[in-house]
Amino acid sequence: MTGQQKQIHLAAHFPGVNSTTVWTDPRSRSQIEFSSFEHLARTAERGRFDFFFLAEGLRLREYQGRIHDLDVVGRPESITLLNALAAVTDRLGLAATVNATFNEPYELARRLATLDHLSGGRAAWNVVTSSDAFTGENFRRGGYLDRADRYTRAAEFVATARELWDSWSPDGSPRPFAHTGPHFDIAGEFTVPRSPQGHPVVIQAGDSDEGREFAASSADVIFTRHGTLEAGRAFYADTKRRLAKYGREPSELKIMPGVSYVLGDTAADAAERAAVIREQQVSPQNAILALEQIWGRDLSSYDPDGPLPETDPDVGSDFVQGRVRVADPLAVAAKWRALSQEKGLSIRQTVIETTGRQSFIGTPEAVASELHEFVRTDAADGFILVPHLTPGGLDDFVDRVVPLLQERGVFRTEYTGPTLRSHLGLAEPVWKG
Ligand SMILES: Cc1cc2nc3c(=O)[nH]c(=O)nc-3n(C[C@H](O)[C@H](O)[C@H](O)COP(=O)(O)O)c2cc1C
Repeated sequence: MTGQQKQIHLAAHFPGVNSTTVWTDPRSRSQIEFSSFEHLARTAERGRFDFFFLAEGLRLREYQGRIHDLDVVGRPESITLLNALAAVTDRLGLAATVNATFNEPYELARRLATLDHLSGGRAAWNVVTSSDAFTGENFRRGGYLDRADRYTRAAEFVATARELWDSWSPDGSPRPFAHTGPHFDIAGEFTVPRSPQGHPVVIQAGDSDEGREFAASSADVIFTRHGTLEAGRAFYADTKRRLAKYGREPSELKIMPGVSYVLGDTAADAAERAAVIREQQVSPQNAILALEQIWGRDLSSYDPDGPLPETDPDVGSDFVQGRVRVADPLAVAAKWRALSQEKGLSIRQTVIETTGRQSFIGTPEAVASELHEFVRTDAADGFILVPHLTPGGLDDFVDRVVPLLQERGVFRTEYTGPTLRSHLGLAEPVWKG
């Protein structure tokens, strides 16, 4: 009986501003025109995906004082865009990444509840917490929170949003709310009636101990980068274990790593395509940029096809603005040097080897088997697929891999409910009026 197998959840990451996207491919189109978003969302819905996912960056990144190439076309505001996508899709969940450090609960809760209404119960909020001063310069507050406070604010933000969403009774009457806490002291009446999902789905992305506790206490889904089988299983076990402390069941938090994939007609064909894509992703300029993130200084005079710098990184430098620096640059540099010496790799080849996100590479059958293996053995509950082409990067997955997962009985052939919560198998929250 196929229905007894653990089901896979799938989401589609819009391939815009990130290091996965290949803009030099002739098939690449705009990352700002609505038709691109519409194409990817319609494809995801055709594939019966759980949700469409938008990341967020609140400041254009810079490279040696100039806007980085990948950012020059900009990126639109997510919730506005998802409201437009709600009108051209029926069932697909719509997830917006929105920062909890640079927003206010009343306003954001209102916008998310509105999206939930307009989409008939398909809204999700990916709560991120960036507090870096570079991003903060765009806001009056600046980078004003340390790591621990970012998460206390995020947790109080989500709790406050939920109080607001609960302030209307399910039968449609508003009640006054009052919230007093270290970060927010607000009272009044909420403007939006209770939305179809009660509370929009809450996603968390962030990997520290504080991030994991926040997810265990407050999130419905975790977006992670742990894309290998071993790292995935360890993260899965660790995170699910934390739920009991908050009186929650393991099934109440879905774990979805962000992964890329490359399909081919044979294993060799897929491997060849994957190698070409890595070369395109790590251009000579991107290779130097990746190196500068670790070394923390101008390396533009280095030849990407030559050896790594012999000197050590500048610890504590913020030379590359707008990108998170690795926690221990000296250790990473030592690892990269050892690898490049052992295999005789240039700068660019070293970056290609070390920075690739976990990819599923192979025939559609092999990729379907591997995805299933991850979910069957509790390395994940599903995946947020990050295609490398905008906007057609999901077409082959939906045409060639989804039918195989459906044949195995591990992925839906039709949506069974109208809301994102129903796709994810999450209960509607009990009203705490
Ligand atoms: C998979 C993943 C995706 C993320 N996506 C975004 C994003 O789109 N926008 C953003 O501002 N931060 C994003 N973040 C950053 C996190 O919100 C957080 O600021 C960062 O991971 C540092 O927190 P941590 O120490 O708990 O990991 C992401 C983090 C992870 C792990």
